[in-house]
Amino acid sequence: MCYFKMSSLEEPLGLDKLPSLSTIDLSRRFSSNRCSTSGEDSGLGYCWIEGKTCGSLNSYKEDFKEYRREAFIWRHHKRENTHNESENRYPSKHTTNHQQNLYCNDTGPRDITNKIFKGMPSHVRIVEVGPRDGLQNEKNMVPTSVKIELIHRLVSSGLSVVEATSFVSPKWVPQLADAKDVVEAVKNIDGARLPVLTPNLKGFEAAVAAGAKEIAVFASASESFSKANINCTIEESLARYRDIINSSKKLDIPVRGYVSCVVGCPVEGAISPSKVAYVAKQLHEMGCMEISLGDTIGIGTPGTVIPMLEAVMEVVPVEKLAVHFHDTYGQSLPNILVSLQMGISVVDSSVAGLGGCPYAKGASGNVATEDVVYMLHGLGIKTNVDLRKVLQTGDFICKYLGRPSGSKVAVAYKM
Ligand code: HMG
Ligand code: MG
Repeated sequence: MCYFKMSSLEEPLGLDKLPSLSTIDLSRRFSSNRCSTSGEDSGLGYCWIEGKTCGSLNSYKEDFKEYRREAFIWRHHKRENTHNESENRYPSKHTTNHQQNLYCNDTGPRDITNKIFKGMPSHVRIVEVGPRDGLQNEKNMVPTSVKIELIHRLVSSGLSVVEATSFVSPKWVPQLADAKDVVEAVKNIDGARLPVLTPNLKGFEAAVAAGAKEIAVFASASESFSKANINCTIEESLARYRDIINSSKKLDIPVRGYVSCVVGCPVEGAISPSKVAYVAKQLHEMGCMEISLGDTIGIGTPGTVIPMLEAVMEVVPVEKLAVHFHDTYGQSLPNILVSLQMGISVVDSSVAGLGGCPYAKGASGNVATEDVVYMLHGLGIKTNVDLRKVLQTGDFICKYLGRPSGSKVAVAYKM
């Protein structure tokens, strides 16, 4: 077991390399000059999202009113429902795509918004990792029955992939020593895939015997982290994963591959994008159906995530990539946003922001599922996830753990 020093990571990496991503000035967007009724524009007011028409340029004030109404929908909702049961406190499944009605047809800003939203997916698959990544880092043991209930609730919220547990050494991660019981209890849940983590053939075989139908392997882009986390070098881990994948192919079991420390490592500091690309390529070539890129200690910013993604996308098709951000420095949402802009459509998150890695001291939980869903729906991106139900699930687990939610959205709802 190894304890890392965080000193080399006290400052986010790459601040000097932040790209000049243009931001949208909302006040300018809605100023009368911006949406002037020039002959050129008049009658042509359409949105930046193809196929959606927005009010004419003359009606920008109406649009702005609508924007304000919808942007502050939660506040209204709450006021209107102060006498309702807590069940009704949460927003309904999908927000309206308010942005889609906002943007006018001016050349300059439209170009900017087109650039920002071009390539973004219309649907994102969220991989919920709370029961595994979240609970593996809990100091107190969570009873098996609570884990099972948590998984049921997450699936009922519309989450189509819920990482259930890990088949790792109970000496290393005692929190998940009940993996067999958890999988046996949830393996027949309909409507969701329930992958489990396995570090070696022993774990793989135990997972399959318990009834797991999908697994995940986890390598690292940092040699030091690989040794601390799974007690072997990167190459040794890749050899183990080849063995697992050879066995999984015979049983037709899909395997997801993680790459940890894609931006930085608690021991080595900055990790070069080429190292990440190398490990991602190996996992892809050996047959992983998806590669999740993990900022294990949550130090990435768009300035470091973009070059990392560029390097990985050179060697692995973007459709095969997922992003996995821990929120230690509060950078997950901007990092997810740039990942979406780069075409990634699978995002890992953890209900209530539970989580961390027991072998990355100081790393906090994953980005909260509630916050990701809120942002995605705000962008008009579909998830099939019911935010209200995820919030209730977050409440359930936080009450059990006796601590506040790590989700900003959940906290805002309680205010
Ligand atoms: P080791 O000590 O080198 O392995 O551990 P070993 O082969 O010498 O075995 C030691 C003992 O563990 C033996 O038992 C084995 O039988 C047993 P003993 O004879 O001493 O009684 N053992 C196992 N037991 C159950 N299941 C197994 C298993 N394998 C061996 N699969 C090992 C090597 C990989 C097992 C260990 O280091 C380990 O379990 N590490 C897991 C660490 C972990 O789970 N970390 C957190 C997950 S990774 C993460 O969170 C990052 C991620 O979220 C992405 C990101 O955020 O970047 C995925
Ligand atoms: Mg993780």
